[in-house]
Amino acid sequence: MLVEKNVPLQALNTFHIVARAHGLVRVRNEADVLEVLADPQWAQEPKFVLGGGSNLVLTGDVKPLVLKVQVQGRSVVGETAKAWIVEAGAGEDWHDFVAWTLAQGLPGLENLALIPGTVGASPVQNIGAYGVELQDRFDALDAIDLTTGKLFTLDAAQCAFGYRDSIFKHGGTAPLLGLKDRALILRVRFSLPKVWKPVLGYADLDKKQAQAGCGHPTAQQIFDWVCEIRRAKLPDPAVIGNAGSFFKNPTVTAEQCADIIARDPKLVHYRLDDGSYKLAAGWLIDACGWRGKAVGQAGVYEKQALVLVNLGMGALGATGGEVMTLAGAIQTSVYERFGLRLETEPVVL
Ligand code: EPU
Repeated sequence: MLVEKNVPLQALNTFHIVARAHGLVRVRNEADVLEVLADPQWAQEPKFVLGGGSNLVLTGDVKPLVLKVQVQGRSVVGETAKAWIVEAGAGEDWHDFVAWTLAQGLPGLENLALIPGTVGASPVQNIGAYGVELQDRFDALDAIDLTTGKLFTLDAAQCAFGYRDSIFKHGGTAPLLGLKDRALILRVRFSLPKVWKPVLGYADLDKKQAQAGCGHPTAQQIFDWVCEIRRAKLPDPAVIGNAGSFFKNPTVTAEQCADIIARDPKLVHYRLDDGSYKLAAGWLIDACGWRGKAVGQAGVYEKQALVLVNLGMGALGATGGEVMTLAGAIQTSVYERFGLRLETEPVVL
């Protein structure tokens, strides 16, 4: 087993924050994990599972042993009456996987095109965009318990998916056992419908459809539109470091929503099935005047206030401390103006 020491992490997190891992092991299969767990020096050490580093803020060097997931492979592994079951290794790049499914004639993931990160990270925060969430296409996953070395499989119900949430984001002890810092996802299986229907109805997508004058778009067209929308609105992490949306869109009661609208009639809000309302955090931050503002080299993206960006690169770039100071200042001003506490999305280490 090779434990790389003092490894630069700048290229392994999409914020491109400069930090180092004290120790890093590349995981290509379950045997690599079992070797770590059998090693007298590393078995008991705290561990941190790293996928594409696209939802991560590093505030210093990483002391836990980093397990960099590089499990590869993509294939159709089965079918049900209604769906094809497609499996991918946790280390596969998410967007490449989505493009591959379409090339195989297996639509269903096109609304989730261009989301940075790996397949293994997709269920952790139940990624979602343009009307589709991962849980809508999820079948099951295989993971390994880092405390016992046991392999296990979870279906959708066992993953306890919520909005940008799953069992992998919660700690805890039995009987309410969360899997935060406890599980390493090896493979994910997706259920892609044999009879495909486009998911439209999201304002940006509808605009694209109207522009194209296209009554019955194909999955490839939706994929292309989603890529165009994201490229126009969101910074490419290869060029400008960022971790996607930095805050979750808050949910409020109908009364709270009405109260805010009474003061700010332009509030962007969406009614949910249970009668509560989801508010656009980007709009709330924008309304507080944060778009384009910065703390040191950490900035609020000019075209989407929900995204914090690294204005520099390398040693001249943002520190994790600057990013978190900026995030804290945004939370304070949104709280002062709207009485809402914005919840952060990325993992802070
Ligand atoms: N808005 C503003 N000012 C801003 C930003 C947004 O007024 O600076 C307004 C927009 O005009 C729009 C509304 O807020 O009316 C919502 O904006 P947008 O459609 O860009 O979506 P979002 O709610 O900000 C969410 C997800 C994104 C996902 C998009 C599309 C979360 C936290 N974010 O963003 O996910 O791509 O919807 O489905 O739910 C991510 O999680 O990293 C991510 C990018």
